Amino acid sequence: MEEKVLFPAALRANNGEPLPLAAKLRLDHGAITSLMVVPPTDDVIKVLRTVLDQHDELEEAPGGMYDVCEQLTSGETQELLEVLKSTGEVPVHHFNTADYAIAAAKRALARAGFDFDSIISEDSENS
Ligand SMILES: [Fe+2]
Repeated sequence: MEEKVLFPAALRANNGEPLPLAAKLRLDHGAITSLMVVPPTDDVIKVLRTVLDQHDELEEAPGGMYDVCEQLTSGETQELLEVLKSTGEVPVHHFNTADYAIAAAKRALARAGFDFDSIISEDSENS
């Protein structure tokens, strides 16, 4: 919904000028999506939590992406809500247990600036 509705609306309202956080958030979304493909092991969940903690901060903190989007699209809130409500369910598939799936997730994480193996080897008390 962010990538399909909210961010494009904000981009249009910004006269096509890319929003500073959009590229990083898109890479995060790719990484998060890739982690939905593989079975949710403890390691995968730990990495997902790490990514989401940072991702949510970029979106939700004061001055973050949601604030920027809200300011840019303030004149079309109701219209955007209607579009969001009419968005269909995302199709769900079984987890992919193949080695290439976790390898692809690690590459998507790397593109977003995260290292799967480093995150899982971090002491949980410090994360
Ligand atoms: Fe997001």
